[in-house]
Amino acid sequence: MEPPHNDTSKNASADNDSAEPDPVRRPWVVGVSGASGTPYAASVLRGLLAAGEAVDLVVSRASRLTLMDETRIAFRDAHWRTDLREWLARGADGKPDTFPVTEEALAGVRYWPAGDLAAGPSSGSYPAKGMVIVPASTACVAGVALGLSKDLLQRVASVTLKERRPLVVAVRETPLNGPTLKHLVALDEAGAVVLPASPAFYAGATHIQDLVDFVAGRVLDAAQVPHGLYRRWEGELGGGSKREAPKAR
Ligand SMILES: Cc1cc2nc3c(=O)[nH]c(=O)nc-3n(C[C@H](O)[C@H](O)[C@H](O)COP(=O)(O)O)c2cc1C
Repeated sequence: MEPPHNDTSKNASADNDSAEPDPVRRPWVVGVSGASGTPYAASVLRGLLAAGEAVDLVVSRASRLTLMDETRIAFRDAHWRTDLREWLARGADGKPDTFPVTEEALAGVRYWPAGDLAAGPSSGSYPAKGMVIVPASTACVAGVALGLSKDLLQRVASVTLKERRPLVVAVRETPLNGPTLKHLVALDEAGAVVLPASPAFYAGATHIQDLVDFVAGRVLDAAQVPHGLYRRWEGELGGGSKREAPKAR
């Protein structure tokens, strides 16, 4: 059986012999806030690790509720590695052990509790590549747009903007009210990529995982991280339909 396309046991950057290894660990900070869509976060995390990227993970207090609701996993600071392994292994359909998660891949992850405002990434001097917030709640969008820094996740987002590093905000809410729309414009104007968690159907999705991976792939595109999470548009109509064209009678 072919490994799933975001198998974390693969290391894409290992193929790139010509690049000098960077002696400084430069992680992507992944912020998971309390919007619905924890499978999006899992897919982005698997994609970053499969690409050989280091990851600093921040999980908001509210996102523990969505994670519990969507996966039945109680995410614990003291046992984050065990809980993360279980989460990353889970498919978007809820099936456990769908994706292989190696210890080697998990070794690329550093976890910071959301209440730890003295954590490394809370300072601009910490060598982060940038940040993705996936999924981003409207509360998180508001907090980042207004610079509230009410927890580590929001603080890192403010730092990312002030340091002019890439910030990708995968907002998940529908419909959107006026204040949220204004906050999203403020984020765009501050240099963030506002990326609604809005799956498309042109890539030929047949399973819920395909729709999740499409959004995760677009997040990784915005972060310029290589991946094979979805089939790109190649200019031919018809790829989005899995059904055969009806036969003429
Ligand atoms: C099960 C559940 C699902 C939720 N889904 C969303 C959502 O899709 N979008 C959103 O903006 N907020 C959603 N919320 C509300 C947020 O969790 C809430 O606004 C929280 O304050 C966000 O905090 P945070 O940004 O610090 O994680 C949801 C809450 C729960 C309990």
